[in-house]
Amino acid sequence: MSTRHDSITEATIRCLIDAFYARVRNDPALGPVFANAIADAAWPGHLQKMYAFWSSVMLTSGHYKGNPVAVHHHVAGIAPPLFGNWLDLFEEVATEIFVPDISNRFLQATRRIAESLKLALFFRPDQPWPDDLRQRPGGSASCA
Ligand code: HEM
Repeated sequence: MSTRHDSITEATIRCLIDAFYARVRNDPALGPVFANAIADAAWPGHLQKMYAFWSSVMLTSGHYKGNPVAVHHHVAGIAPPLFGNWLDLFEEVATEIFVPDISNRFLQATRRIAESLKLALFFRPDQPWPDDLRQRPGGSASCA
């Protein structure tokens, strides 16, 4: 069994991203959505973007320049329930690659970004909340 990484560096981010998207491409729900949006020849470019994105998020490197909300608006087949699949897979891979302290930092960041992406893409103030958004994990707050 290989040792889990205990630091966040450009190299360990690449390791995470390569493993994550290899699994995404094989996933029955997510694979077809990505295959439809990213041709085989375009994958190296997508991975480069994702290294830059995660380097900016976790190392505040500023490498990523882009607009994820605008890009996801054009992804055919993206839907709220798929975010659950995406997060489950990300958690699976992050916990295999990193020690818990580090994988937890990635997971906190991903959950936060996934939530705001989902809201930006799907929440419409004039429409009822989709079931997937209404059923938030962690129970409900109360101020009795
Ligand atoms: C259901 C969940 C998701 C699906 C199906 C999805 C799918 C995709 C696809 C197909 C692309 C490439 C689009 C293109 O180049 O035309 C993309 C780009 C990207 N995704 Fe996602 N995504 C999901 C969730 C997420 C989440 C949760 C994050 C961040 C935590 C994320 C971050 C990004 C970024 C940074 C890009 C690159 C944007 C750019 O071109 O600048 N995605 N996504």
